[in-house]
Amino acid sequence: MQQADIIEGIKGKYFQKFGETSNPDKVRTFRSPGRINLIGEHTDYNNGFVLPASVDKAVYFVIEPREDDQVILHAADLDETYTFNVNDLSKPDQAWSHYQLGIIEQIYKKGLKIGGFQTTFGGDVPVGAGLSSSAALECCLLFALNELFDLGLDRFNIVKMSQKAENEYVGVQCGIMDQFASAFGKEESVIRLDCRSLEYEYFPFPMQDYLLVLCDTSVKHSLASSEYNTRRLECEKGISILKKYYPDIESLRDVTPEIVAEHKDELGDPVNRRCKFITEEIQRVQDACDLLVEGNLVEFGQKMYATHQGLQHEYEVSCPELDFLVDQTINDPAVLGARMMGGGFGGCTINLVKKEAVDDFEQKMKAAYLQAYQIDLPCYKVKITTGTEEIL
Ligand code: GLA
Repeated sequence: MQQADIIEGIKGKYFQKFGETSNPDKVRTFRSPGRINLIGEHTDYNNGFVLPASVDKAVYFVIEPREDDQVILHAADLDETYTFNVNDLSKPDQAWSHYQLGIIEQIYKKGLKIGGFQTTFGGDVPVGAGLSSSAALECCLLFALNELFDLGLDRFNIVKMSQKAENEYVGVQCGIMDQFASAFGKEESVIRLDCRSLEYEYFPFPMQDYLLVLCDTSVKHSLASSEYNTRRLECEKGISILKKYYPDIESLRDVTPEIVAEHKDELGDPVNRRCKFITEEIQRVQDACDLLVEGNLVEFGQKMYATHQGLQHEYEVSCPELDFLVDQTINDPAVLGARMMGGGFGGCTINLVKKEAVDDFEQKMKAAYLQAYQIDLPCYKVKITTGTEEIL
């Protein structure tokens, strides 16, 4: 569906729900996109580099301030509503509302104030597919409330507060990549973000004759969040061991693959493999950006495969479904690169595929996946578009 149709659909539902109380002059619409990540996985919470981009699948909030202290959240896709007083942030059963409540909590933690509001939200970011629909929800609501109530926040505030909402209220210990990509995305460019300093640079992504296609395993293994937290701890363990030799080390960003190799035995397994992957992956983002500047997508694709290998065997956050989808592409001349994307244990693979071969590619992947897993494989062609914005 086209963006304009999606927005019309959500607006229609807004006016159905709130038509009687609404002042149409005060109704505004905001958009925050989902994200992809080209290279640099699990490096954000290690203070390394990532290379994400925001895509043409987004979350939209149609929203209006109210005269009273009520907040009415209306989830268009579920047709569910949650109403609460803006000063009462107790956690309700509806898990989908935790992102919004987490955002309001962060506003208060910054010493800022808002009044009541009513909103209908929805969009086309597939949920649970690893495109960070949650970061999009957080960034979109905070961006909207910033405008509605003149909070004076800049995009960096929006990113950091959205990440904190997820860490503190939702209880997921994610890094900063997803929120940053959703807020700072730029048309046809990837963002090289230094997660230590938050310095960032846009690199035009020279699509040439290629398209980015996501293949959605449609599985999410229950290990995802517990293993994510375990990886964070394993990285910290590595740092505490290496710190004895290099007291200035604060994160794996300050460590090279050579240092990891030198202390392999003391790090022990699996910590040595975790540290090896992260230090190599941080370097891979830098190398990949050089390749983009050269316009060398062939080598870039090889880096994507190398990332997958590392995630599969060293960082161990892949799963059979993801490995299967990547394996299918290895001898396909139409595919330059493929790898699992995001936290792992399910979600999507990202594939760099020759434009003219995309339909064949999708058919082939769907048939293979159906045969192996009896699942109809959703495939999404994604375009890199601009980040969080008001739709005027
Ligand atoms: C999830 C997290 C991100 C990042 C990725 C892995 O998407 O939300 O912060 O750590 O996993 O790169």
